Amino acid sequence: MQKPVIRPRRLRQSVAMRNQVRELNVHPNELVLPVFVREGISEAQEISSLPGIYQHTLDSIRGVVNEAAKAGVGGIMLFGVPAERDAVGSGATDPDGILNRALRVVAEEAGDAITVQADLCLDEFTDHGHCGVLDSRGRVDNDATLERYTEMAVVQAESGAQIIGMSGMMDGQIAAARDALDDAGHDDAVLLAYSAKYASAFYGPFREAVDSQLQGDRRTYQMDPANRREGILEARLDIEEGADIVMVKPAMSYLDVLADVSAESQVPVWAYQVSGEYAMIQAAALNGWIDRERAIAESIVSIRRAGADAVLTYFATEYAQALRAF
Ligand code: PBG
Repeated sequence: MQKPVIRPRRLRQSVAMRNQVRELNVHPNELVLPVFVREGISEAQEISSLPGIYQHTLDSIRGVVNEAAKAGVGGIMLFGVPAERDAVGSGATDPDGILNRALRVVAEEAGDAITVQADLCLDEFTDHGHCGVLDSRGRVDNDATLERYTEMAVVQAESGAQIIGMSGMMDGQIAAARDALDDAGHDDAVLLAYSAKYASAFYGPFREAVDSQLQGDRRTYQMDPANRREGILEARLDIEEGADIVMVKPAMSYLDVLADVSAESQVPVWAYQVSGEYAMIQAAALNGWIDRERAIAESIVSIRRAGADAVLTYFATEYAQALRAF
């Protein structure tokens, strides 16, 4: 029998050896924590389809920000859940709307320790649950929506958002927001483009988290899960329009798209491990079917390995704490 000459197992023989040859180590800074703030509740409420994740009050977010910052998490991405909704999502552009108020609280609490980020989309604020305004035939009107987005971008920047996450998937949304921000003197506001955002079943628990009013689906604006090439197109368009960061979402079922976008992009590439991805790991772990800590670590390292420079994940604080303890 011929003995193997090349033995990859040599480099796996001990913890110290494996640590020395590891290609990638995840750092807490590369994690972003999504946080929900709900109007009109007096204490934080756990979201049943996202065990361990809460709808927060303007007061309880302070503790979340501090805990994340202490663990070294890089940023907080805020989502607002308003008490009232209307056809155009007025609450999104009201400086006293829940998301904008929450931004002021988080900006005050965060100081320089952690970046303050906001989701820019109308779905939480409209009574029909779509990410944009509707035309007379009930279709999402791209260009009328851009006008709402530009107003929203300026209000968010004024409320303290340093990174604005454009998640609505309207054509031209990055250029429109950039222009409006610059005109208003917010040339330092960073635009994070949810570039390759797919119409995904994995957003299910998020819809509960924001009390979504949506009937139907978002397939006229979010991407078809079958389309890989189009992910590159969307990212390229966003970079041309001035995106500072591009994102792929969801993450785990779209690692090929992430690798493609990462190979093409000259700006940072982020990925969003969405609510359904979190819920799957939590549910399996609660049943004792998988090792929770290992599954969290493996899922996040694989998203980084595929090409994400940073990962939005509901596990951010917990995983950052685990990395620090290690
Ligand atoms: C839009 C938005 C959504 C998510 C992030 N931003 C919902 C959607 O597009 O339907 C989903 C995030 C998640 O599932 O964790 N505001």
